[in-house]
Amino acid sequence: MKKILFVCLGNICRSPLAEALFKHKIETLGFTDQYYIDSCGTNGYHNGEQADERTRRNAESHGIEVNSISRQLTLGDLMDFDVILTMASDVHFQVLNFCRTQEQKDKIHLFRELDPEAPNSNVPDPWYGGEEGFEKVYQIIEQNTVHWVNYLNSRQHL
Ligand code: 4NP
Repeated sequence: MKKILFVCLGNICRSPLAEALFKHKIETLGFTDQYYIDSCGTNGYHNGEQADERTRRNAESHGIEVNSISRQLTLGDLMDFDVILTMASDVHFQVLNFCRTQEQKDKIHLFRELDPEAPNSNVPDPWYGGEEGFEKVYQIIEQNTVHWVNYLNSRQHL
């Protein structure tokens, strides 16, 4: 079982969408049994809440249901998951600072690490912007999810 965790700040916009799109892709490919997928946020401001309504509405317009409930990153996550994908550099350094061991640090990767168009750039935070920001974030996450599914499927061990 490959355990993949997506992390953003609030776990209501970017990482819940990445979780939903990754699950959708592996389901389409028939690999659901090989993965455990989850998402969380570095802050707990929205603990227990559904994803942002604008994220859910935008994803729904693409036929994707975003149904995760916000929760905060824990130390247990750093031990349990194999690959931890951070949606932006601020989140990335927060998660790295939270790590207790080098083994944990080695699991942390920027979500856009594999993006040929803009390697290692941030997925912009759409929270304060308009609807077009949510669509842009959808496109970025959708494309990069494909890169990660291809990469992770090609690996026997993580
Ligand atoms: P997310 O967006 O990290 O993509 O879920 C945010 C949502 C809420 C906040 C920050 C970012 N907030 O500070 O409330």
